[in-house]
Amino acid sequence: MAQYSRVSGSVCLITLQNPPVNALSAAVRQGIVDLVKRALGDQKVKSIVICGQNGVFCGGADIKEFGKNMTGPPLVPMIHAIEASNKPVVAAIEGSALGGGLELALGCHYRIAHSKARLGLPEVTLGLLPAAGGSQRLPRLIGVPAALNLITTGRHVTAAEALQLGIVDQVTDQNSVDTAVKFALSVAGQSLDSRRISTYPCPRPSDLDALFEEAMQRVRQSARGAIAPVACVQAVRAAATLPYAQGMEREKELMANLFTSGQARALQYCFFAQRAVGRWSMPSGARWDTSKPSPVHKAAVIGLGTMGRGIAVALAQAGVSVVAVETQEKQLMEAKQAVSGMLQRGAKRSGVAPVLDSISYSPNIQAVADVDLVIEAVFEDMSLKEKVFQQLSAICKPGTFLCTNTSALDVDHLASQTRSPEMVVGMHFFAPAHVMKLLEVVYGPRSSPQAVATAMQLGKKIGKVSVAVGNCRGFVGNRMLKPYLEQAFFLLEEGATPELVDGALEEFGFAMGVFRVSDLSGLDVGWKVRKGDGLVNPGLASGPQARVRQGHRYSPLGDLLCEQGRFGQKTGRGWYQYDTPGGRVARSDPWLHSFLEGYRAQHGLVARRIEQQEVLERCLYVLINEGFRILEDGIAAGPEDIDVIYLFGYGWPRHRGGPMFYASMVGLAKVLERLEHYHQAHPDVPYLQPCNLLRRLVASGSPPIHKWREVIKKLHSQL
Ligand code: COA
Ligand code: ADP
Repeated sequence: MAQYSRVSGSVCLITLQNPPVNALSAAVRQGIVDLVKRALGDQKVKSIVICGQNGVFCGGADIKEFGKNMTGPPLVPMIHAIEASNKPVVAAIEGSALGGGLELALGCHYRIAHSKARLGLPEVTLGLLPAAGGSQRLPRLIGVPAALNLITTGRHVTAAEALQLGIVDQVTDQNSVDTAVKFALSVAGQSLDSRRISTYPCPRPSDLDALFEEAMQRVRQSARGAIAPVACVQAVRAAATLPYAQGMEREKELMANLFTSGQARALQYCFFAQRAVGRWSMPSGARWDTSKPSPVHKAAVIGLGTMGRGIAVALAQAGVSVVAVETQEKQLMEAKQAVSGMLQRGAKRSGVAPVLDSISYSPNIQAVADVDLVIEAVFEDMSLKEKVFQQLSAICKPGTFLCTNTSALDVDHLASQTRSPEMVVGMHFFAPAHVMKLLEVVYGPRSSPQAVATAMQLGKKIGKVSVAVGNCRGFVGNRMLKPYLEQAFFLLEEGATPELVDGALEEFGFAMGVFRVSDLSGLDVGWKVRKGDGLVNPGLASGPQARVRQGHRYSPLGDLLCEQGRFGQKTGRGWYQYDTPGGRVARSDPWLHSFLEGYRAQHGLVARRIEQQEVLERCLYVLINEGFRILEDGIAAGPEDIDVIYLFGYGWPRHRGGPMFYASMVGLAKVLERLEHYHQAHPDVPYLQPCNLLRRLVASGSPPIHKWREVIKKLHSQL
């Protein structure tokens, strides 16, 4: 777990060994404690270098140990012992020095980093703070403002920035261990009095109170209810105002609160869930580790609307050469300009040259003949997509993967239009496609494992969090959104306002409530879908049938707004009003309130007072219930897949861990009981009826979320 060797005669090299990232597990900590002691006792050793094996210094505390009984030596005294050493200790940082890894390095007397290394204190992203002295040493080393920035955001810095900030003493392009060993030889025997960071006074900015006040306001605003960023500010304040030993006490106290909080558990669950979705499986038994992806060097994008443009940019930025096809001449010219602008802005932000030449444009679909993979992004219209897939099947070379960027249409039906249905999968991007991290990779019953693996791999290459999902109406994300939206409409009928519903959801942690989001994405989008489904019926403006479709409760509120030309932000009016069409600031609209009153009067609905709790329970539990149905149907392989989709595509607050994790925290029995309660009150709303899987999980004692897959497997084997 840590290896001892002596190099260049008098330098002890301690190598951390815990693949893949040398996390500080109990065994690694024990190794470090023992080996440092041995080095200090070894007369021949004059200085010490600590490094990590396989090009990674250390990825920090072992997250897998959190929540279990702590064994092995704790980090804080271990780091203190290193700092107190009378032989110089040098950290040789390659790859990553994150969290406890950087805290270990801050306990060393010198830090030498490879130019490609990344450093940071990302604990806040796991619901914690750097509690092995990081919150006390970093401000002493680099000052309060810079330390606050790093600790409250958890961002990783490059070696160059770390040097500029003063976190490391030297950056090298050469082998960092060799450089550190040479350096260790040169400082052997020198006084270390000025090298122990814990003894430094913390620089005290003159406007200390104002600075912390402002930092606190900033984190509270962006944290949306997350407690760790607030605790991080408090810990840095302790560094700036208290002697080191007292600051450490405060750090410990704040950490104890966070460590046992549900938020830390949720954020740590998210960390592992994000990685688990890469290990996808299909009901056919095909899996990520047995399905080989094909390389994609050249791809085509068909249709250059908002989605197609974003997809082309994402591909080009990842080094894929792109053929972009758009049949409308004017649209093609506009797209060319827009895509170039996006590439130029992206390049400026990341400090690289724009890759304008890697996209070629054509009005002719024949241009895609030699590509490895096509992503179709034409209008969301089945007959048009059918035609495009028939054309693609005839034009593309054999072995070309054909993907559709549909948000709801049947991928298998499109596959049936081609000669090789096994080569067809869905790639559901989220707008704007070059920014949003989520990608739903949709497999149909005939999609080959290789096609799924190729789309998943391409998603990874272009920086997406890709989740493999089955083929059904709306796939996972949009399928769950439907009952959520429906409840929001019903709540308006019963007496709520958009402000009340959005307020409850935003207080829960969503960046925007459901009505604000609808205004942003355009109310006409859902209207078009409902029209396609035969649900919109302007002839039924009043009478008992106005609020019923196919025997179930239906709210025509969204349709009525669209009939008035209120499409949301783009028209300056929707569930809110905006100063101008395209305006961003949503203001309460008195017209909307009197419209709702008139609507209720017309339909004999009596407004009642609706509490925030009811808004949350009805909107969120109905969405969760649909999530359970999705698991029951085998559309998502596990709860992690659903949660990752909601975290990265729908703004679900990360510190609540995703909808399915949230359900497990609330308690499945409670979710079931509330759904039963609301279903009894609204028997004409089928979405409120608790699904079998939820009942079954409750009946089997509400197992923890990592055990759900076993229950799901049993359920499927009985089908
Ligand atoms: N503890 C336990 N396991 C860890 C870990 C940690 N601190 N850091 C990474 N891992 C595991 C991952 O779960 C993953 O396991 P898997 O292969 O079983 O899925 C594996 O190491 C590789 O990690 P991954 O993130 O896929 O690799 P990467 O090369 O893309 O990134 C890091 C490497 C170190 C940058 C990234 O893993 C990371 O940010 N880790 C967390 C760092 C952190 O927050 N430390 C503070 C802890 S309080
Ligand atoms: P969004 O990407 O936001 O869904 P649109 O649906 O408006 O935006 O974009 C679809 C684009 O696809 C339009 O620019 C349209 O001209 C283009 N398009 C439609 N049919 C074809 C086709 N057969 N080949 C290429 N492009 C097409």
